Amino acid sequence: MSHDKVEKNIGLLGVLITLVISVGGLIEIVPLYSQASVVQPAPGIKPYGALELAGRDIYVREGCYNCHSQMVRPLHAETERYGHYSLAGESVYDHPFQFGSKRTGPDLARVGGRYSDQWQRIHLNNPRDVVPESNMPGFPWLAKGTVDGDLVAKKMHTLRILGTPYTDQEISDAPGVVKGHTELDALVAYLQGLKFRGDGGREAKP
Ligand code: HEC
Repeated sequence: MSHDKVEKNIGLLGVLITLVISVGGLIEIVPLYSQASVVQPAPGIKPYGALELAGRDIYVREGCYNCHSQMVRPLHAETERYGHYSLAGESVYDHPFQFGSKRTGPDLARVGGRYSDQWQRIHLNNPRDVVPESNMPGFPWLAKGTVDGDLVAKKMHTLRILGTPYTDQEISDAPGVVKGHTELDALVAYLQGLKFRGDGGREAKP
């Protein structure tokens, strides 16, 4: 088939373009289904504790993902700013994952330990108390909201069905663990746990 013919026939060109893109796409996507690194937890990755899990749900409920991503791309500028790029194995226990695609604020995948608990509390209550130029909204109601322990236990039970290896003990302890904690405590615990954990706990160079 001569090139001329393809270039002058828009229908044929369309079909061939679709074919090329489909084959190219399949070659990129299909191996991911069988690649062990995609489904295996990275070394050192543990399921969220009861309080962190509750905090994660508050993160989703409040729509933090609308302004914050949790995925450091393997680009020099990103690893310089945030730390080790994100690995698929770090997100195996995230249902659903919080990669996000919008960065009105900074990426949060490595924010754990960057600030004190106290800073996080003040910041979430009213960001401008610590970052005067911030346009992040305040979430003052979190300090008053309490965490429902029975609900957390039920969620852990459901997550176990999805493959998160919670033990019976962890599930039955959950209400006791979160008892007396506010939603703010839970969210701060979750944020402080967002660290690079893909190397079994050692700090790796990006
Ligand atoms: C309307 C967009 C918006 C929303 C919604 C939002 N943030 Fe932010 N966030 C920002 C911006 C902008 C900054 C940078 C200025 C600052 O530090 O306040 C920021 C900063 C942060 C930081 C400090 C990050 C760093 O590396 O310095 C944390 C932690 C944070 N946000 C957590 C949250 C959490 C948790 C929620 C949900 C409860 C949330 N944000 C909701 C816009 C947003």
